[in-house]
Amino acid sequence: MNAVRISAYRALPAVQDVLAPVVGAGDILVRVEAAGLNPLDVKIQQGFMHDFFPVVFPYTLGTDLSGTIEQIGPNVTGWSIGDKIVARTDPPAGGALAELAAVPATHLAKLPANVSFEQAAGVPTVAGTAWQALFEIAGLRSGQTVLIHAGAGGVGSFAIQLARNAGARVIATASGDGIATARRLGADQVIDYKAHAFDELVSDVDVVLDTIGGETQQRSFGVLRRGGYLASTASPPDEALAKAHGVGASFIFHQSDAPRLTMLLDQVAAGDLAVLIDRTLPMDRFDEAFARQASGRAQGKIIVKGYAS
Ligand SMILES: NC(=O)c1ccc[n+]([C@@H]2O[C@H](COP(=O)([O-])OP(=O)(O)OC[C@H]3O[C@@H](n4cnc5c(N)ncnc54)[C@H](OP(=O)(O)O)[C@@H]3O)[C@@H](O)[C@H]2O)c1
Repeated sequence: MNAVRISAYRALPAVQDVLAPVVGAGDILVRVEAAGLNPLDVKIQQGFMHDFFPVVFPYTLGTDLSGTIEQIGPNVTGWSIGDKIVARTDPPAGGALAELAAVPATHLAKLPANVSFEQAAGVPTVAGTAWQALFEIAGLRSGQTVLIHAGAGGVGSFAIQLARNAGARVIATASGDGIATARRLGADQVIDYKAHAFDELVSDVDVVLDTIGGETQQRSFGVLRRGGYLASTASPPDEALAKAHGVGASFIFHQSDAPRLTMLLDQVAAGDLAVLIDRTLPMDRFDEAFARQASGRAQGKIIVKGYAS
């Protein structure tokens, strides 16, 4: 079968003809229809995640996938061959960018009838992270104000919609075409971060969703009200700075959770959440897809399709 693999950190990912994965106890073999890329795939390929979780080479890239159940491993109940599913594999295992992927059955969510494989592959990591950050970590509530950095990115595009649907006032940062995109997704105010210093235009927000880190994160502390919360997907916040501003702050490491993924897919199926897709490319143009992801300029998700040998 075809799989996109790296043989070492910083090695260029290549489509290779490899053996199908072994289906262990508790696993399900999925014929992958679509896979969604994430910045994490680039960070793993670059070796930046090595200290958190070393990967075993050759490593098949990708965590987010949708497809059809091909085979059911021992000790699995509740699923049938032919079921259409969505899943996020554990990052140290990867494996989504392949014709066939072995996924723990506990990680599977059912694909809703009116959601496409392509849309679904754009959901697991980013929508789950946005939900986890806004509601489970930062405790965002109706009537509060949230600043969402990179509103046109994968996490930001879902965060805008989730926060708006929860009754929060949404301020987002974006640039270029991303400004109109963030507005269309439901942001009440969009700041062109290249033209304006966001921290001169925003103050007293309840929550910041920091997807950028570095200087953006540092300046974000100053826009929070005392008692507010900064949740970062990019880098661990400076605890001393958080204390000095009288705010809470933490880094999120997204944990896959099938019930949460199911709940988010139901919102997509109901038309309450749109999946913003930057582009969809066939596997034989994976280099292009990966370069686009690595550029950090995508508006929404990059989806890879077309796995047949
Ligand atoms: N810790 C976790 O569990 C976890 C989970 C998910 C994601 N993440 C991390 O969260 C970050 C965001 O992920 P993502 O999937 O949303 O990334 P993404 O889709 O690649 O984000 C791309 C977007 O970022 C925007 N952007 C870049 N620099 C910006 C800046 N200084 N201010 C505002 N917008 C800016 C770009 O807009 P322009 O082109 O207009 O600049 C582009 O639309 C990544 O670092 C990712 O690794 C972490």
